[in-house]
Parts: sequence; C-alpha cells; structure tokens
Amino acid sequence: MPRIVTGIKPTGRPHLGNYLGMIRPGLEAASAGNALFFIADYHALTTTRSAAQLRAGVFDLAATLIAFGLEPGRTVLYRQSDLPEVCELAWILACVASKGLLNRAHAYKSAAQRNIALGRDPDSGVSTGLFSYPVLMAADILIHRAEAVPVGRDQRQHVEMAREMARSFNRSYGPVLLVPEAIVDERVMTIPGLDGRKMSKSYGNQLALAATPSQIRSRVARIVTDSRSPSERKEPDTILALYRAVASAAEAAELERRYREGGTGYAEAKALLAEAVDALVGPARARHAELMSDPGALADILADGARRARASAAPTLAAVRSATGLSYD
Ligand code: TRP
Repeated sequence: MPRIVTGIKPTGRPHLGNYLGMIRPGLEAASAGNALFFIADYHALTTTRSAAQLRAGVFDLAATLIAFGLEPGRTVLYRQSDLPEVCELAWILACVASKGLLNRAHAYKSAAQRNIALGRDPDSGVSTGLFSYPVLMAADILIHRAEAVPVGRDQRQHVEMAREMARSFNRSYGPVLLVPEAIVDERVMTIPGLDGRKMSKSYGNQLALAATPSQIRSRVARIVTDSRSPSERKEPDTILALYRAVASAAEAAELERRYREGGTGYAEAKALLAEAVDALVGPARARHAELMSDPGALADILADGARRARASAAPTLAAVRSATGLSYD
C-alpha cells in the first residue's frame, strides 16, 4: 500500500468547493490506508493574520475531515505546526532549490503579473513565505517519504517542484529522499459558486459545509436567474452546473432534460439543488457539531496524530542531517 501524504489549509470555514475539490478526493485516497493527512497551518500564515481565526480554522477543518469520514485510528491526522521538523527540512531544501524554480510557480507568477498590470513593483505585497510556499510544501511531502500525494489540479505544479527538489537533493547527497507522484483526480470539476464563478471564499459565493438546511435553501434562493417562466425552455445555468457537481449523473441529466424541454421553473430547480446539497453534507452535520463542541477531544486526536507524524518524520530527518553534515555522524 503506497504511503500517502496530503494537506489542506485551514483558511475560513470549509465550503462545498473545498469539499468536492480537495477534501473528498483526499479522503478517498487516504482511506486506502497508510496515509497522513495534515492541516497546513504554517501555510495558512501566508494569508492569515488573526491567531483566533487560525486556531478556529484548525479545529473546524479537523472536525470536518473526521465528520466526512477520516478515521483518526487509521489515518494520521495532525496539525502541520505540531511537526516543526518540516521547517528544518524546508530550510535544507531551500538550499538545493533554485530561485528560478520558485519564480516559475503559478501562484507567485500570477501575483507578480497582477502587480505589473496595476503598474506596481512585481513583488509588491508578496511575502518571502508566499514565494517559498512550494519549498515548505515539498518538506511536508518529503519528510514522510511519501509515495503518492493526492492534490487538486491547481497543486500539481507544487508536487512537480517537490519532485525536483528531491532529485536535486539526491544528486548532491545520494539517494536519501523519495521522489513522490502526484495523484490528481481528473473527474473532479471546478465547482461553481452561487454567482457562477469558481466557488471561493474570496468571492463570497460559497456554500458553507456546516450550513443548516434552511441556510442552504436561502443561499440557493439567491442565485440570480433570468426571467423565464416555468413553462419556457431554459439554458444550462449556475443552478444546473452546481446540481451536476452534487447530484448523481442520472439526476443531473434529468434536470438538464427538463431545462431543455421547458416545464420546470427556477424555484423548483433551486429546491432540487438545495435538497441535493443537503443530501451530500447533511449526514456529516451532527458529527461535525458534536466534534466542535468538545475541543479537548479534538486536541487529543491531533496530539496523537502529531506523535505518529513525528515518528514518521524522524528517520528521514536523521538521514538528511547525516547526509548533509548537519550531524556528528
Ligand atoms: N498547498 C496545498 C493547498 O493549498 C496545501 C498543502 C500544503 C499540501 N502542503 C501540502 C497539499 C502537501 C499536499 C501535500 O491546497
């Protein structure tokens, strides 16, 4: 069974786009066994400035992962900053990673291009942490000698970079690090938000996973439609796009047919959509609330995960220190 490592940033309340895009595929990959799943709070520091929000985000994400099926007895669930060894490995990797490699990272390049378009210095507002994000991510992966890394499409390049850093380290110091493979589930589509753009906290168009049925209905009710009457034929729209993401293929095909033929109003389509969202997230709601009501128990789960993660990391770091001369033997 391959050793799997993956992580998710605890930024904001987890929403449907996070679930379908990263959480569900990550949990599916991890359920094969021999997996480590971590909450990337060091990475979240590149964008979060509030300690209270960061702490709350860690607990919310841990509860969400467990509520949606992560079994802490099987999968090692830990908070990234409970494994400070990744920062040590990140420094060592930074010394073999060329700056040019990091210049090519999509996240950095798009920030630089946005600045240039606005007539600003390309590095305006770019922290060194944001620039070196891929180095820390490589350390997360390589420290456990991961064989496979489930990620969304947008993270594939970062895994490529981790591979590059592992090879570059091994060229200098011998075969110490394992070169991992990315697992990208190509079936996962981009999840549209309530305004039709990609679902994202930064657009405010998200559906929170912890939403109650009535909150789901009222968020869905606000999706803007054209003014066609129920009997008129309809074009595929945001309601249908979201429905495709949450309902079964047969249900989605059925709504699409009703759109094309006319006879179904937007209110009815929205009711179907709200129901399908609830069918997907509803079963985890009670478990999530129960976990959130006992932070001590969650902290114990994370502490146990941290112990196991450190045990997994220790031999790699010892080998790295020995190979580089950062140890006495
Ligand atoms: N960068 C990932 C994201 O934004 C999160 C992450 C951090 C990660 N370290 C990782 C994912 C290591 C996989 C492996 O989604």
